[in-house]
Amino acid sequence: SRNVSRDTSGVATVAGVPVTQLAEAYGTPLFVVDERHVRETATEIREAFDSAFERIGTTAKVYYAGKAFLCTEVARWAVDAGLGVDVCSGGELAVALAADVPPAKIGLHGNNKSLAEIHQAVEAGIGSIVIDSLIEIDRVAAAAEQQGAIQSVRLRVNSGVHAHTHSFLATSHEDQKFGLPLEAAAEAVARIRSHSSLNFLGLHCHIGSQIFAPEGFAESAARLLGIHRDLLADGPVPELNLGGGFGIAYVESDEPPVVADLANQIADIVRDTAAELGIPLPTVAFEPGRAVIGGSTLTLYTVGTIKPVALSEGGVRTYVSVDGGMSDNARPALYEADYSVGLASRTSDAEPMLIRLAGKHCESGDIVVYNDYLPSDIAADDLVVVPATGAYCWSLSSNYNYLGRPPVVAVKDGKSRLIVRGEGLAELLSRDCGIDQPAQPARP
Ligand code: LLP
Repeated sequence: SRNVSRDTSGVATVAGVPVTQLAEAYGTPLFVVDERHVRETATEIREAFDSAFERIGTTAKVYYAGKAFLCTEVARWAVDAGLGVDVCSGGELAVALAADVPPAKIGLHGNNKSLAEIHQAVEAGIGSIVIDSLIEIDRVAAAAEQQGAIQSVRLRVNSGVHAHTHSFLATSHEDQKFGLPLEAAAEAVARIRSHSSLNFLGLHCHIGSQIFAPEGFAESAARLLGIHRDLLADGPVPELNLGGGFGIAYVESDEPPVVADLANQIADIVRDTAAELGIPLPTVAFEPGRAVIGGSTLTLYTVGTIKPVALSEGGVRTYVSVDGGMSDNARPALYEADYSVGLASRTSDAEPMLIRLAGKHCESGDIVVYNDYLPSDIAADDLVVVPATGAYCWSLSSNYNYLGRPPVVAVKDGKSRLIVRGEGLAELLSRDCGIDQPAQPARP
């Protein structure tokens, strides 16, 4: 992993901080975020899109998709790097506002925003609300009217393009909950425009996540621009939002595209399609989450038990179990996602051994790394690291089996600091009404 080096005693270090020191200070499991990595990656992505779209004669906007991992610290890093923040609930919005993200740089998503969330967003004066259904048009319009505001909105549509890593599929009808079909866009936009409390910014679509190939974005952009052109007949359409989804490397064999290449390829298609259609170039917005944060973070675990298991097809698989698992990384269990693992508290000359890194949960699907190698002298109390856990790990974490969520620490220049507290047992037990509790303040 790009984040890990070794000190002279063979202990892995992240941004100059030995993992043994981190484990000692914060315990394990622990999420360790390399602050400089996040800041540099966010800047790199923003600059890549800025220059690609400047080259074709328009501008780009980049929002960090907070669903990947959001806390005030990371929101500030995103803003420092020139990104806005994309949120998809009132909770994520509250974090962005608490981080002092300028409201104009916040976008709100969601296929089922509550009225309270809509009011919260309008009241905060956020830059855009992404309308996801016809019923929401009137809800947002009413909230804006009630508050004497004019709310800018986008309309989420389905381009029919589904992309995943190397391939994409283009269909005309979609059986899923997000957005409206492309054919419904004209009527929906007319309805948006009929409300004087709404300001229409443009279309939005998101075609998937962990995408390596540019073709899906290109196809989607081309389809959207066709409708975008039709919408220009009845009013301005200043922007086009192509969502997020840029893939990252999880294991060594993954070769994600260079973001500048991807940005240039998408920009070229936008330019060519707009030229063919004879329309002015819109501002083009993007919402990467994983690509900003995913590679910056690793999870530090302590090894507990080691168990060789004879396989019916012959051979042995050694289960190495750690002190976390699907509660801090649900992605292998949910998506068969691949990760890798490395011994971090020491080096070893022992032969590599095929292992499966398992968690401690009561479920056989509780696996962190399906197949990788660790030195055959791997032992209890060794520290191991699993890289690339920055996106959709903490944010999908749970208290399954009454495990507390791990803390998150940021490391930089040889120093570490806590950015999200972990949950202790007292905190978990405090929710149980049958356990005598110290006096709690009443809920508002
Ligand atoms: N914009 C919208 C509207 C989205 O729905 C998403 C992700 C993003 C942006 C950011 O996508 P990214 O750049 O991070 O790929 N839990 C899954 C990923 C779910 C993605 C949901 N939407 C996983 O762990 O792979």
